[in-house]
Amino acid sequence: MNVKPDFSKNANKAATAPAFFSVWDMHAYYGESYIVQGVSFNVHEGEILALLGRNGAGKTSTLRALARVGSPMVTHGEIWLDHQPLHTMASHEAATAGLALVPEDRRIIQGLTVEENLKLAQIAPPIGWSIERVYDLFPRLGERRKQEGTTLSGGEQQMLAIARALCRDIKVLLLDEPYEGLAPVIVDEIEKTLITIKELGITTIIVEQNAVRALELADRSVILDTGGIVFDGTAAEVLQNDELRAEYLAI
Ligand SMILES: Nc1ncnc2c1ncn2[C@@H]1O[C@H](COP(=O)(O)OP(=O)(O)O)[C@@H](O)[C@H]1O
Ligand SMILES: [Mg+2]
Repeated sequence: MNVKPDFSKNANKAATAPAFFSVWDMHAYYGESYIVQGVSFNVHEGEILALLGRNGAGKTSTLRALARVGSPMVTHGEIWLDHQPLHTMASHEAATAGLALVPEDRRIIQGLTVEENLKLAQIAPPIGWSIERVYDLFPRLGERRKQEGTTLSGGEQQMLAIARALCRDIKVLLLDEPYEGLAPVIVDEIEKTLITIKELGITTIIVEQNAVRALELADRSVILDTGGIVFDGTAAEVLQNDELRAEYLAI
């Protein structure tokens, strides 16, 4: 379907020339439930975008729709990554095009060691980082390379999930609540690795309940409410706007 998206009803009308990563008027359903209700935003290459909003606002659904996992089903809209039309692709094709989703439950594969989890990510091209390079960024994973992945601490499992994404040659990393359940000192460690990943030019979209931590890291922020966008601007603007934070982020 080649329908030109109508942005007139969207809060963020800025989408003109496609950015590095562009989402245009995306709508998605779980069966009959209409959840993602016309989402449009742009992310520039190497940027960190904090995708925020209350519980149930549609953040996870938006990430799943972007990753083309099939549920929710995207019924309308366009998703462009570096001139590639992800909206025409299945999940594995979107992964090959350079999009990686690290879901909230991290999906570490049971019965496999840390190293086997990483090697499994490298069985399909395009192959990204070598295992040794992963261990340079995450020394704890190197120390625990022979340990079963599911027996790692929560923070280490999050590192493994991010590391596994880097074992594919990715352009955009989607993180769903990476700080959930982690002590502040571990969040510090993960944040440092996300800064390194940004310095390497990878684009990140981070969904977080810990909105302040995500905003301190991010360049820009998009806030969702009931499946639509209510704010699109800089992370600093959100940190300075008490009303916005109280209304949509409860902070
Ligand atoms: N598998 C599903 N089937 C039907 N509705 C769902 C499903 N997953 C989530 N929802 C609904 O979609 C809405 C958005 O959920 P979600 O994207 O998980 O929000 P968030 O991640 O912002 O907390 C909620 O109303 C939720 O109940
Ligand atoms: Mg969620």
